[in-house]
Amino acid sequence: MVYETILVEQRGAVAFLRFNRPDKLNAMSSKMKDEIVAALAELDRNDAVRVLVFTGSGDKAFVAGADITEFKGRTALDQWDLYRQPFLYDAIDRFSKPAIAMINGYCLGGGCELALACDIRTASDRAQIGQPEINIGILPGGGGSQRLPRLVGLGKAMELILTGDRIPATEALRIGLVDEVFPHDQLESKTLEIANRIAEKSPVAVRLAKHAVKASVRMGLEEGLRYEQSLFSLIFTTHDKEEGVRAFLEKRPPKWTGT
Ligand code: COA
Repeated sequence: MVYETILVEQRGAVAFLRFNRPDKLNAMSSKMKDEIVAALAELDRNDAVRVLVFTGSGDKAFVAGADITEFKGRTALDQWDLYRQPFLYDAIDRFSKPAIAMINGYCLGGGCELALACDIRTASDRAQIGQPEINIGILPGGGGSQRLPRLVGLGKAMELILTGDRIPATEALRIGLVDEVFPHDQLESKTLEIANRIAEKSPVAVRLAKHAVKASVRMGLEEGLRYEQSLFSLIFTTHDKEEGVRAFLEKRPPKWTGT
């Protein structure tokens, strides 16, 4: 499909989804949200794609937040209706393959929330990250108030959301908001290395492992442990489990089929 506000490109088993409004610092319009949801459905169906990387076009921004121009005049009911449509952040949360946010610059508001819904976050040493909604008299509405404290703890999440301050990538790394920071010019190659390492694994094992880890934030420990046991038992029905074990014992690389 051809999109107006995003670019989707496949490099081997890794797909890149680029937010593509660089003159507006990739601010997320409704159109862009709809297009990302449509692209996610397409990428989930495409077996050749094993890992998805989100990033921004241009040199300045990942996403500088929701498109603020669309908030002017929007009523509460308009906003309520928007939540009834397929919701971008839920769609990312439910995406079955690993999603990496490759944060190449400003990552603010809805951009930060999008990164929070991803599985891994890498950042350029030039990136600046924050939830500045409070500065325009609103609060995070794409999961920020719930996912941020789960990642960085209650106090740091409060500080970021209540002050609206932006923090540099190194500070984001220190508090666990991002997982890796790379020199700006190496961000893409280093992120691609991580994506390719994941893409080389059994896709079915990756999928179930992702589900298991994600369950840890939704479930209590007891329920989560039982869920892990179910997934672990389920993986014993797969060809890839038998192949992985045999390949190890025969001292050869495994040939995954994803079944
Ligand atoms: N929504 C709509 N447009 C945005 C935007 C957003 N969230 N963020 C940036 N833009 C637009 C600017 O209006 C400007 O457009 P223009 O050239 O037509 O005037 C363009 O992108 C470039 O932004 P500019 O502010 O000139 O760049 P800067 O380098 O001086 O500042 C930021 C960068 C990120 C500090 C600043 O753009 C900003 O504060 N953006 C809003 C961030 C925010 O509050 N996001 C959360 C929204 S809920």
